[in-house]
Amino acid sequence: MNRCVLALPGAEAAAGRLATCLAALLGRIESRRFPDGETYLRVATSVAGSEAIVVAELRRPDARIPGLLFLADAARELGASRVGLVAAYLPYMRQDARFREGEALTSRSFARLVGTAFDWLITVDPHLHRYPTLDALYEIPCRVVAAAPAIADWVREHVVRPHLVGPDAESEQWVREVGALVGCPWTVLQKQRRGDRDVVLALPELAGMAGRTPVLIDDIVSSGSTLAAAAQRLCEAGLEAPVCIGVHAVLSAGATDRLAAAGVSRFVTCNTLRHASNAIDITPGLAQAVGALADVGTAAGPPGVA
Ligand code: R5P
Repeated sequence: MNRCVLALPGAEAAAGRLATCLAALLGRIESRRFPDGETYLRVATSVAGSEAIVVAELRRPDARIPGLLFLADAARELGASRVGLVAAYLPYMRQDARFREGEALTSRSFARLVGTAFDWLITVDPHLHRYPTLDALYEIPCRVVAAAPAIADWVREHVVRPHLVGPDAESEQWVREVGALVGCPWTVLQKQRRGDRDVVLALPELAGMAGRTPVLIDDIVSSGSTLAAAAQRLCEAGLEAPVCIGVHAVLSAGATDRLAAAGVSRFVTCNTLRHASNAIDITPGLAQAVGALADVGTAAGPPGVA
């Protein structure tokens, strides 16, 4: 089946990289806002009979969700045989429980919306906390690309004698996996969040880190408070200024300043969301996942890839 990669506005560079990696056609999209704020979209490349692969960058998703749904619907109406979504950063994963009566369970609502518009979904390290896997949330076939191998390659190339540090229990999965791939030690700190930008961290015994470069790794860097608090504690303990690695550069206002003020020597991220800190390319993993989903839901293979 022919593939046509379509960029949601804002994801042109990511779509171009993916199309190159897949040797697929890069479709042309025209979009603008009408004076009243509504969205105009045109798929200017024929997708009839093709698998349309929509690439979306979903930082600040509320402004992008209508366009996402319209583009998928347009591709289907224009004859695409299947429509898949590559959203390297998957938003709306954090409201994964109803903490107060009446709250919208937006993780489920968003998953239902995406599930009605797309045939499959590929993402990178979704923020899974109360859901054990993405399949517990999404009913369409999903494939999760792990950022750890690409992060490990970067650490191997750029850091001498690294000691990986996860700022909280949830980050253990990355430091454990990257540590095993690089063959270096790792440590996990204990985090207590007291507010959106107020984080307190407990340091364990640090003797084993002397003479090594601390490399902090977290999945989402939003306000930067978690990594900044961890970096500050490590510097106060007399360790070398840490390198910080984030998978998803969500980065709300002031985040990079917060990291610099905390003494971070270098801040790099995966290119799941565009930012000057992008230094780790996850496109090959995304392309491989597209290949793995190729037969899902067709006569050549059953649905249900996880
Ligand atoms: C939390 O569980 C996540 O893994 C990150 O630690 C968190 O989202 C980072 O947020 P911030 O940069 O605002 O501290």
